[in-house]
Amino acid sequence: TVGKSTNILWHDCPIGQPERQKLLNQKGCVVWITGLSGSGKSTLACTLSHELYSRGHLTYVLDGDNLRHGLNRDLSFKAEDRAENIRRVGEVAKLFADAGVICIASLISPYRSDRNACRNLVHNSSFIEVFLNVPLEVCEARDPKGLYKLARSGKIKGFTGIDDPYEPPFDCEIVIQCKVGDCAAPKSMADQVVSYLEANGFLQ
Ligand code: PPS
Repeated sequence: TVGKSTNILWHDCPIGQPERQKLLNQKGCVVWITGLSGSGKSTLACTLSHELYSRGHLTYVLDGDNLRHGLNRDLSFKAEDRAENIRRVGEVAKLFADAGVICIASLISPYRSDRNACRNLVHNSSFIEVFLNVPLEVCEARDPKGLYKLARSGKIKGFTGIDDPYEPPFDCEIVIQCKVGDCAAPKSMADQVVSYLEANGFLQ
């Protein structure tokens, strides 16, 4: 959407992202976790946050389900509302990254175009897309909130993976692969992300 504000000017402060990053001994970035409902995005986000906290790093988790209780409570699950949901979280994540924080966003974010818009917004080099690739049958067997059951019986319409699309990334920074009967523990998934952050200079 086109901005509606006119006659506005950007103002910078002398203390900026480089100063904040120096204070925190880390580089602000966005770790964007995408995957089906029930794939374990929130668990991975919290485990990663815990792992980084133990190493002395500041993180903040933006969880799709949680944000829909407040900031995004006016949005439904139709495609244009999902796009607005992702856009808003992308903007908030960008602010956290600018603050020097390692921002962990966990949302289904089913559309490639919405995720790529966030990537461009945040700046490609500090946007780390993590695809939690868990087969639909595994997510459905877990069904932690009973939503797949409701979707299959037609009580929820437009449920991702059932009667609404999920577009996996073509090319992302990290793929965490789960197979039927063979899914790593959350800690080892989080370690995979920590290793990436270490190797790419986000942690000092
Ligand atoms: S999205 O697609 O990124 O805007 O979704 P998100 O904000 O991450 O919210 C996903 C959680 O909402 C619940 N829920 C649904 N998911 C998908 N499709 C439909 N129709 C739907 N209705 C409710 C569901 O609990 C999701 O939580 P997770 O944690 O992903 O299982």
